[in-house]
Amino acid sequence: MNFDLTEDQLMIKESAREFAQAEVAPSSVERDINAEFPAEIVKKLGELGFLGMMVSPEYGGAGLDTISYVLAMIEISKVDASVGVIMSVNNSLVCFGLEEYGSDYIKQNYLIPLAKGEKLGAFALSEPEAGSDATKQKTTADRDGDFYVLNGMKNWITNGKNADYYLVMASTNKEMAHKGISTILVEKGTAGFSQGKKEDKLGIRSSDTCSLSFESCKVPVKNLVWEEGKGFNFAMNTLNGGRIGIAAQAIGIAEASLEAAIKYSKERKAFGQTISNFQAIQFKISDMAVKVDTAKLLTFRAAALKDAGKKYFKEAAMAKLYSSKIAVECALDAIQIHGGYGYVREYLVERYLRDAKITEIYEGTSEIQRMIISRALLDYN
Ligand code: CAA
Repeated sequence: MNFDLTEDQLMIKESAREFAQAEVAPSSVERDINAEFPAEIVKKLGELGFLGMMVSPEYGGAGLDTISYVLAMIEISKVDASVGVIMSVNNSLVCFGLEEYGSDYIKQNYLIPLAKGEKLGAFALSEPEAGSDATKQKTTADRDGDFYVLNGMKNWITNGKNADYYLVMASTNKEMAHKGISTILVEKGTAGFSQGKKEDKLGIRSSDTCSLSFESCKVPVKNLVWEEGKGFNFAMNTLNGGRIGIAAQAIGIAEASLEAAIKYSKERKAFGQTISNFQAIQFKISDMAVKVDTAKLLTFRAAALKDAGKKYFKEAAMAKLYSSKIAVECALDAIQIHGGYGYVREYLVERYLRDAKITEIYEGTSEIQRMIISRALLDYN
């Protein structure tokens, strides 16, 4: 087993770190307060190749491995987890699925601009009554000649307002239940397609989340991704990779919490000495560091399996389950170490807690990850 990163991976990590510190960090507090979408940053991320990291150069991507993607996701999320999720959805849930399952038409017309960062993507699976129980899709796509006619509603869609292309899971055959679900690519501006109001969220406030509505929305049949009836498999397969991205996002938050805790404990004095001299603080910091490294090992393992073309769905679920849990714990510990200062906006640790919580919810709640892991272990699937 080799724990060394390659020269290329180290270079990606460094360039993501530099970009995050120079371009993302300075305005992150204002964006969080104002819930402002980081449009300029997303544009630059695209120009640098961070929005199509794993897509082959043939389709406008950077042709990198999943380990490099994890490294970049950690560095970006360490500074602003909102930017992290925007990047993760475009890479893992949109570009990956289109390269893997899209037709040549889809790749030429949609994947290339998405991978180059000229366009932004969104993934529309959740509905008001189909969140964790994702097979219960009510949105329909009825065939009418060369078109599908979509009707229904989607909820909690990341990049919902700002995306250009939406991968919509909809039922093309109600009788076939989840085997009748298909993935259809809908362009912003299509008649009958509209977005709801932007959600006012606890954390990751500068990423935009909204509902989508489809009312007799006509989309050409050539915008079908993969085959009719394969939409649920499409969603599950892309979410496996997405969970690696969210695990990396959570690690970024946890690592930021750890670094903030170390810095503050070496500055803050109490009882005549810096608080880093107290064992209560030292042990907290040790535990945080062990958690961050364990989360990294789990996440790099899942990424390495994916890169090797092996099965990785259980390992991705483990990585997300653990990394999201410790992100919340590390943020809480960082707040505790900061005392009263940790509870106010002056220091960033209160945002880390708000941002961390969502990683236990989206792309499959922690309960769903446990379901996936236990089913794999008990041979239920
Ligand atoms: N990988 C690949 N395939 C999977 C899978 C996985 N992890 N989990 C299930 N499947 C497949 C099964 O093999 C089965 O395939 P076939 O029909 O071809 O045999 C099919 O999916 C149905 O599986 P089950 O019978 O196990 O279905 P279920 O209803 O009992 O459980 C579930 C399915 C795992 C709970 C699934 O519904 C699930 O993952 N739910 C969570 C959904 C989710 O993650 N939503 C996140 C929304 S997107 C988001 O958050 C993005 C964002 O904007 C940030």
